[in-house]
Amino acid sequence: MGKGKKVSIIGAGNVGATIGYSLAMGGIAHEIVLRDRKIEIAKGKALDMSQAANAARMHTIVTAAEDASDMAGSDVVVITAGSPRLPGMSRDDLLMINAEITKEVIADVKEHCPDSIIIMVSNPLDVMTYVALKESGFPKERVIGMAGILDSARMAHFIYEKIGYGAGQIRASVMGGHGDDMVPLPKFSTVAGVPLSDVLTEEEIVEIVDRTKNGGAEIVGLLKTGSAYYAPAKSTTLMVEAILKDTKQIHSCAVYLDGHYGYSDVVSGVPVALGAGGVEKLFEMTLSMGQQRRFAKSVASVKEMIDVLNEKKFFDK
Ligand code: NAI
Ligand code: 2OP
Repeated sequence: MGKGKKVSIIGAGNVGATIGYSLAMGGIAHEIVLRDRKIEIAKGKALDMSQAANAARMHTIVTAAEDASDMAGSDVVVITAGSPRLPGMSRDDLLMINAEITKEVIADVKEHCPDSIIIMVSNPLDVMTYVALKESGFPKERVIGMAGILDSARMAHFIYEKIGYGAGQIRASVMGGHGDDMVPLPKFSTVAGVPLSDVLTEEEIVEIVDRTKNGGAEIVGLLKTGSAYYAPAKSTTLMVEAILKDTKQIHSCAVYLDGHYGYSDVVSGVPVALGAGGVEKLFEMTLSMGQQRRFAKSVASVKEMIDVLNEKKFFDK
């Protein structure tokens, strides 16, 4: 148990509540606060989770925030508030709706949790992480987006489905934005250290790359009324745990690039070490020409969305 650690989760919907449950059942935080504009939902889920914690003999306390000040003292604030991606809706459609929501909730975080580390989950992820960074004024090390762990986990699962062995031993690597232009890196992916090219054909690898890029949409297409939440929640929980326990684990996360990989004033997914300080180290990998081209395209699509916000004078209001 991370003694005395407090995590607030803004947005107690599918992803937020599952993160709360996962943190509570893992004994990762001592105190979990759920905040949602639907207060009764937050209260009901907090009560339910507290009872689950008792069933599991954990001493995690889960409460609902009636007021933003109830989040004070949080070590980590996870933000999943927003509209989910519905069938036929691209991640980019969510841009304006979720940017306004992010601006609103970040004002509360800034006021009541000025020393916290923010983990963004709301989509479009990279741009929302950028909005959270700009609106909070926090140092770049303390505003981190969740996507790379999820996209890598999806790719690992699709590799497993193709080869039928090595479950849990597959290390897949995905960088770039959490959008249609994400950059799966099959050359940096292995099955227990064995390169993918030694266990799969070129065609199979291309299929896996495509399926990974569409991993979120595939689940939306099946669920129909919402998007994925178990893998997103587990991926976020891993980040919270690495920060609270100061493990220095390396994960692909969406972070602010300040000259890294040749890009500035944009957020994208790259490997970072997570610890008590948030992003403690950013790793710059040597990319092939092809990988560089795909990464450039992904960064450009995030920049385009930031440009839309700038054109609408979003940051001036
Ligand atoms: P959901 O609709 O189940 O939950 C969203 C919650 O946010 C709702 O309970 C809603 O009442 C609340 N909310 C909305 N505005 C709020 C405000 N101003 N203050 C407080 N609460 C507010 O949606 P779900 O499935 O939990 O997804 C949440 C977000 O996470 C979406 O934007 C979704 O696209 C994104 N997502 C991102 C992933 C990633 O890889 N980064 C993966 C999965 C989801
Ligand atoms: C996902 O990839 C919707 O971004 C969300 O499942």
